Amino acid sequence: MADHDHTIDTGKGTFSLEDLGPLMPGMAEIMPLVGSRIWKCYYAGKAHNRQLAAFQLKEAVNLMEKGAFLRPKYVDNMHKFIEEEVADVKKAIDNEDWDGFEPAFAAMVDAANAYHDVYDKSYLRWKVPDAPPPDLDMTPRG
Ligand code: HEM
Repeated sequence: MADHDHTIDTGKGTFSLEDLGPLMPGMAEIMPLVGSRIWKCYYAGKAHNRQLAAFQLKEAVNLMEKGAFLRPKYVDNMHKFIEEEVADVKKAIDNEDWDGFEPAFAAMVDAANAYHDVYDKSYLRWKVPDAPPPDLDMTPRG
């Protein structure tokens, strides 16, 4: 054992550093957050709000990278997805190509669901909710 232990004190109790690993979020915790960002990205794009759509997509990518870091079995496919389908959506947003945004977005969602199939989760078919997220104004500013 090391000459000092690594005890984490939450203020309500303590646990050891090794116990942190299993407490880190996995895909079951991270993916719903990705879904929420992608939902916002879609409606921001529909509102032609480049800044907000780009921000939401970037935050979704950060979450996907975190998921792949914590669950390395997804790393190759996650990076392929980010470099291919997600990159096409990013390009449409950056170029404010709102006609190209729709098909690129649909292709990204299809690919995401195809990856769910790859991991034997074909019952997880993500879709864009019918209404914009109620907690964020989609109107572009300046
Ligand atoms: C637009 C991109 C994506 C969206 C919006 C999305 C959305 C979601 C959502 C909402 C869930 C959780 C469903 C639930 O528990 O109710 C989920 C689960 C999952 N997703 Fe994704 N996903 C995306 C891309 C991907 C990619 C690229 C991969 C793999 C390379 C992936 C792998 C998984 C896995 C493995 C689960 C199951 C997690 C578990 O064990 O509970 N997803 N996804």
